Amino acid sequence: MDTYEKIIGLAKRRGFLWNSFELYGGTAGFYDYGPLGAMLKRRIEDIWRDIYVIEEGFYEIETPTIGIEPIFVASGHTRGFSDPMTVCSECDHAFRADHLIEGIVETPDALPASEIKRLIDENRIKCPNCGGVGTFGEVSSFNLMFRTAIGPGAERVGYLRPETAQGMFINFENLFRFYREKLPFGVTQIGKAYRNEISPRQGVIRLREFTQAEAEIFISPHDKTHPNFSSVADTLLRYYPASHQENDGGTIELATRDAVGQGIVAHEFLAYHLVLTHLFLVRVGVDPARLRFRQHQPDEMAHYAVDCWDAEVLTDRFGWVEIVGIADRTDYDLSAHAAHSGRDLSAILEYETPKQVERIIVTPDMSVIGPRYKEKAGKVLNALKNLTEEELNGDLINVSVDGATIAIPRDMIKYEAVTEEVRGEKVIPHVIEPSFGIDRIIYAVIEHSFAEEVVDEEPRNVLRLPAEVAPVQVAVLPLLTREELIEPAREIVRTLRRAGVFVTYDDSGTIGRRYRRNDEIGTPFSVTIDYDTLEEDTVTIRDRDSMAQIRVPIRELSERIYEMIRNSGFCDG
Ligand code: ATP
Ligand code: GLY
Repeated sequence: MDTYEKIIGLAKRRGFLWNSFELYGGTAGFYDYGPLGAMLKRRIEDIWRDIYVIEEGFYEIETPTIGIEPIFVASGHTRGFSDPMTVCSECDHAFRADHLIEGIVETPDALPASEIKRLIDENRIKCPNCGGVGTFGEVSSFNLMFRTAIGPGAERVGYLRPETAQGMFINFENLFRFYREKLPFGVTQIGKAYRNEISPRQGVIRLREFTQAEAEIFISPHDKTHPNFSSVADTLLRYYPASHQENDGGTIELATRDAVGQGIVAHEFLAYHLVLTHLFLVRVGVDPARLRFRQHQPDEMAHYAVDCWDAEVLTDRFGWVEIVGIADRTDYDLSAHAAHSGRDLSAILEYETPKQVERIIVTPDMSVIGPRYKEKAGKVLNALKNLTEEELNGDLINVSVDGATIAIPRDMIKYEAVTEEVRGEKVIPHVIEPSFGIDRIIYAVIEHSFAEEVVDEEPRNVLRLPAEVAPVQVAVLPLLTREELIEPAREIVRTLRRAGVFVTYDDSGTIGRRYRRNDEIGTPFSVTIDYDTLEEDTVTIRDRDSMAQIRVPIRELSERIYEMIRNSGFCDG
């Protein structure tokens, strides 16, 4: 049994993760979070909120999980959001064609379909399902969005969102107003995203419905420094730059200051967000020794991004897995939505003192332009208004309308130069985006905190989850199942619950078994009630990791537990 099987076994048995729809046979790519899994997920999301919403001040919004078609036409998803697919003619199973040639070429996802097909044939790739050779058909492109109809019939095409990001971009005007029209500002969203993955075989790593936590930070295109850069400048991260990947030059550990100084990370703003990502991941329980930041290769990077890094974790079965993507998306999204919606999605970068600028005002003769250009007259007028003084010279003035050039006789237009006060420069903001896959993070946290040990010749499984994320924070255990111990134990449960601690009460089985049960689900602290409790009003707190025990007065218990959860650790002082 490999670690993955052990972890999935534990997760199912203990109520972290269950296959969805199991009653009806289930289907790949969907998982339910059971009672402990849902609690773990909520705690991880709340730590994310603590960092991004509370500390960074990026308000959270909530937009629909279904989007109408124009959003995804503008964003490029209807055209480009697809994976290469090939079907085995023997068993009819569909596969990600690029995954079939992994290990044969460096970046299979960057190859054209014909090349992937050639490599599959040339290397006589076996069908992973039926073992057939030479059975794969042509490689086609499969769009990963789930399509649906909005309203009865097929009135309006909709798609389940493939990322939470678009809901934030298309709210730019509202958000900009909310933030009193000043850059930079950030906004966040945590919610479901949907991708109709071709053949998901990696459990929670590749789901068809998953949770993303994304931040979109709108910044000036001219200034990518970060006001708090000095606070992260000394932090060391493990980088795997694109140039190191060609002949596996390995990772390098660098201070953030040097990563930017040496031109490895494009700029301060992105580097700051790599550090924030690192701090979040380690705080929720990712092992820093199994975490690295890998830069996208130039041919792998989305065409709009100038620099893009993935936080990757090392897993036992799947090797390095991307769990977070951090990109500088430039003005791609806002420009695309501005072009498709016809709205002005720009921001004004205010000058220190307003400038006096000469501007040309065009006054076309509408009594001539109207009848001559008919339904295009409005667009001709708009195009004319945007011309510069130079473009307005000559006997014929060329304007572009709906992709065609129209030549307008000079005498139909009058123009004059006026001096105006200009408040600032108009720019389309650039976007820095950290995009977290919560489900993959949860898997990484469970795998990295999982340990098998032998204690007093007995095996024990333990999840060394940080106390802050552990689903059950305290287990209250009467030493023996005796009435005189049960009632005080129940009273302690009530006290801790009133203090906001999530507590379970367990009196079945030997104390040793109850400790093991709680170790396996990562409960950081067990409180035991014994006969000394009755005499001295004290209880013991047992630490999951060291198994050390301390005795504390009951009146101090809530405070001590609270403190230990906040510090994510046992303290016997
Ligand atoms: P991959 O190459 O593994 O398919 P991706 O590059 O498509 O991932 P992004 O589009 O960058 O992933 O998505 C941002 C984050 O969302 C990822 O870092 C990952 O954690 C998560 N994610 C993406 N696809 C899935 C999925 N099918 N199941 C679970 N999480 C996912
Ligand atoms: N928003 C980035 C992604 O989901 O790919």
